[in-house]
Amino acid sequence: MSKVFVLNGVNLGTLGTRRHEVYGTMTLDDIERLVKEAFPELDLEFRQTDFEGEMVGFIREAASSDGLVINPGAWTHYSYALHDALESLDVLKVEVHLSNVHAREEWRRVSVISPSVDVVIAGMGAHGYLAAVRYVLDGEDRRP
Ligand code: DQA
Repeated sequence: MSKVFVLNGVNLGTLGTRRHEVYGTMTLDDIERLVKEAFPELDLEFRQTDFEGEMVGFIREAASSDGLVINPGAWTHYSYALHDALESLDVLKVEVHLSNVHAREEWRRVSVISPSVDVVIAGMGAHGYLAAVRYVLDGEDRRP
């Protein structure tokens, strides 16, 4: 059974109440359910934290997994700590954003995370999580 970590960063626990026009109406629990239903065979570690150090711990835990999907939230734009933690991790890594960060404020166009991951998905809403997990499950042979 494949083990995949899906990690959600700062403020993503407020999905469902937060700016529906940007992030949609699904809660993070809804997204977790969506992923579980789409991939019933998956050993899924679906987590959220508002604490950067805790997120670094989650990333390290993923070292023994088949891959990691991460939506770092606002940490995307400035956390060198998450960049470095991801850089050290030798599994397939996908960065996901619900919104199209490139069509929003200037500062959201910068990701300090992207150089340390294999794939970036933005603007697909909750479907981005499904695409990311599918990509990880399809395996290492698709690594660019
Ligand atoms: C986000 C985009 C970030 O800019 C923002 O800070 C978030 C969510 C997204 O999923 O679109 O918290 O990562």
